[in-house]
Amino acid sequence: MCGIMGYIGPRQALPILLDGLRRLEYRGYDSAGVAVLADGRIETRKAAGKLAVLESAIADRPIAGRAGIGHTRWATHGHPTEANAHPHGDCTGRCVVIHNGIIENYLPLRERLQAAGHRFRSDTDTEVVAHLIEEALEAIPSGRPDRMEAAVREAVRQTRGAYAIVVMSADDPERIVAVRMISPLIVGLGPDETLLASDIPALLPYTRDVLVIGDGEMAVIEAGRVTLADLDGRPVARRPEHITWDAAMAEKGGYPHFMLKEIYEQPRALHETMMGRLDRDDEVTLDGVALPEDLVRRLDKVWVVACGTAFHAGLVGRWLIEHLARVPVEPDLASELRYRDPLIVGRTLAVAISQSGETADTLAAAREARRRGSRVLAVTNVVGSTLAREADDVLFIRAGPEIAVASTKAYTTMLVALQMLAIHLGLRRGTLASARAAALIGALRHLPLQAQQALERSAEVEVLARRWVGAEHAFFIGRGLDYAVAMEGSLKLKEISYLHSEALAAGELKHGTLALVTPQTPVFALATQRTVYEKTISNIQEVRARGAEVIAVAYDDDAEIAKYAQTVLRIPPTDDLLAPVLAILPLQLFAYHVAALRGHDIDQPRNLAKSVTVE
Ligand code: M6R
Repeated sequence: MCGIMGYIGPRQALPILLDGLRRLEYRGYDSAGVAVLADGRIETRKAAGKLAVLESAIADRPIAGRAGIGHTRWATHGHPTEANAHPHGDCTGRCVVIHNGIIENYLPLRERLQAAGHRFRSDTDTEVVAHLIEEALEAIPSGRPDRMEAAVREAVRQTRGAYAIVVMSADDPERIVAVRMISPLIVGLGPDETLLASDIPALLPYTRDVLVIGDGEMAVIEAGRVTLADLDGRPVARRPEHITWDAAMAEKGGYPHFMLKEIYEQPRALHETMMGRLDRDDEVTLDGVALPEDLVRRLDKVWVVACGTAFHAGLVGRWLIEHLARVPVEPDLASELRYRDPLIVGRTLAVAISQSGETADTLAAAREARRRGSRVLAVTNVVGSTLAREADDVLFIRAGPEIAVASTKAYTTMLVALQMLAIHLGLRRGTLASARAAALIGALRHLPLQAQQALERSAEVEVLARRWVGAEHAFFIGRGLDYAVAMEGSLKLKEISYLHSEALAAGELKHGTLALVTPQTPVFALATQRTVYEKTISNIQEVRARGAEVIAVAYDDDAEIAKYAQTVLRIPPTDDLLAPVLAILPLQLFAYHVAALRGHDIDQPRNLAKSVTVE
């Protein structure tokens, strides 16, 4: 996620901006920039890469001034280049903007502004905001005292999305204007200076008195003063808060670990994955994906390649694409594919899934697929990653940076990306009726809220974790899509709790593994798939008969399940095809709580790395 820093006051702005940006580095970024008001002009410095690159650009050409804004960018629209780094200016260069989040309708706005003569210098969605403000300013008389706020309000009125923007103008040098539309933005209050940041850690060296800007609110900051208003200009009164967290806690937004923070970020991440893609009931618009009509209609095979959690997401994708688009799908562990001699039949689409876009085996598998004549579609989180650059099409999952080694929000956003891809393919191939597509799209839109509801039940999961913290083995069982989720639930548990666990297709238990089931073994049974529900119940009874304790994951409206399982972790009911997104949530929380109770290094488990860039 991008980082925002702003300053206005008696001190030199530049060192404070750079220090704040450095404190936001943990959020991940790929380019950075600053703008400072100097002698009635705005001076900007930007650089691709780490802050050190920006600092050396500044060392060559320093800027002095007492008001400024700075940004670290984590690319979403356009590659991580110097030109795409923020701040972005309007045509006059007298007004600059930095921005976090996504402007959903930037494309039609950009086309309209270009047709009206505005010159764009980047590929970003952000730049439209600068030009919209410029356009609005032209229509507002120059003597009006709230001219800047009125122009920003007009620009915001025309944009859709979840974002935060900060605007600075050489024509209004005493103030910086900021608007929050969902993406966080915080004002730091000093006695005669005022700061702005996207996250609290950046402010802590300067002040512990902060004011959180609310959704749909505008803050006008001046040296030692802040004014809050809603987007109609009505004043908003709010008391500052005093922050007592230490810097490490503040980086994690008050959570003890990044993993827990990322688990709780899932409702918002899911919302962002879908943003702008599900605006209609009869269509899924996948920006970055331009599969030719002939290939889509006459596809012979989809080939899914990935590793670890991304592979587990691919297994769900297989189910959905086969079911909705009626194309055979072959999921392949990327590390295995390289060393066999796979058959490519006719027209094949390779779908390479990777959070980082840098996993060596997945890159090699995608290259191998391309070498054998497949078109490659990447499903990834990182704009500008090797996979994104090399693929023919890219579907970004928009999870935001994932810092904990154990993948959580990348998994659920990959699932939603693959669900959208399956519906997209089904509609284009004519294998999915529009009424069914509309029902699925409607159910997808509910997922962020339902994920929020599922996560609110964390206390029950923590109690369960206390009960099983001493277990040595655990099993996860399920059928169909529940089996794919069982695999991910099991991986989560073993990678951070170091407890041995295994996932099994529920029907396979009696072919061997049942011998290991004892009263000391918790068995997690996923029971969300209605078509195989009775079969799953039979498998639950098999393990109960061996004395094992069963913890089921089931829908709120499943009245039967409590007769068979000793514990039931409930999730809100949804379409069975979408259930994996919700069913994994209590399992992520269980893994987290067991690992926390065991005192493990949750964010960096032993022997593991976030990105596996070696074979
Ligand atoms: O970046 P990628 O999605 O390609 O990473 C693949 C795996 O290394 C990754 O999913 C790994 O399994 C996670 N640690 C699981 O939590």
